[in-house]
Amino acid sequence: MLVAPSILSADFGKLNEEIKAICDGGCDLIHVDVMDGHFVPNMTLGPVVVAPVAKAATKPLDVHLMVENNTFFVELFAPLKPMYISFHIESEKHPHRLIQKIRDYGIRPAIVLNPHTAPEAIEYLLEDLDMVLLMSVNPGFGGQKFITNVIEKASKLKELIEKRNPSCLIQVDGGVNDKNILELKQAGVDVVVAGSYVFGNEDYSKAIKSLQV
Ligand code: DX5
Ligand code: ZN
Repeated sequence: MLVAPSILSADFGKLNEEIKAICDGGCDLIHVDVMDGHFVPNMTLGPVVVAPVAKAATKPLDVHLMVENNTFFVELFAPLKPMYISFHIESEKHPHRLIQKIRDYGIRPAIVLNPHTAPEAIEYLLEDLDMVLLMSVNPGFGGQKFITNVIEKASKLKELIEKRNPSCLIQVDGGVNDKNILELKQAGVDVVVAGSYVFGNEDYSKAIKSLQV
């Protein structure tokens, strides 16, 4: 299991140290939550803050867009060269076109599904994607309760992925901890995002390792 700590739960007063701590602690990716105050009722990070994060990071960035104007934000974040950019299917009228745009920047495209969206909604996009992110909370905030039906959804998505594009990864984001990690693994999940669980632990390295099952 790959682990992507979400810096939404980091201490922004000492962001550089926090980035170094999760990288030295053995994380696989750094999850960056971008919220615009429109698609979700919260606002977070722009490129001015994420640029120094990218500079301090020794692990690749995984940018999760929770915005209405996806194209604008892809153009803003592409120069920071994240490994992944993911956008919500619920906020994009032309997902196929946007996937190509992200790939043209040399970035791996991923699509995010909110808790109510069925995996079949993206069946015919799977062959163009490197990763699908299933939300296991409503996007907007860290520290929420894990929505358990994501386990069934991950299993369903896994079947579609086996059929359409076996190299596409499944990522789960929200309420992930050492109690639900094995279930996620069994359902075929490849990458987990964890914010409050990692940053709420005194020993980030120990927390990260407890999820690398
Ligand atoms: C929620 C974000 C998540 C969040 C996860 O909108 O997409 O990445 O930071 O935080 P936890 O792990 O605390 O649920
Ligand atoms: Zn996220």
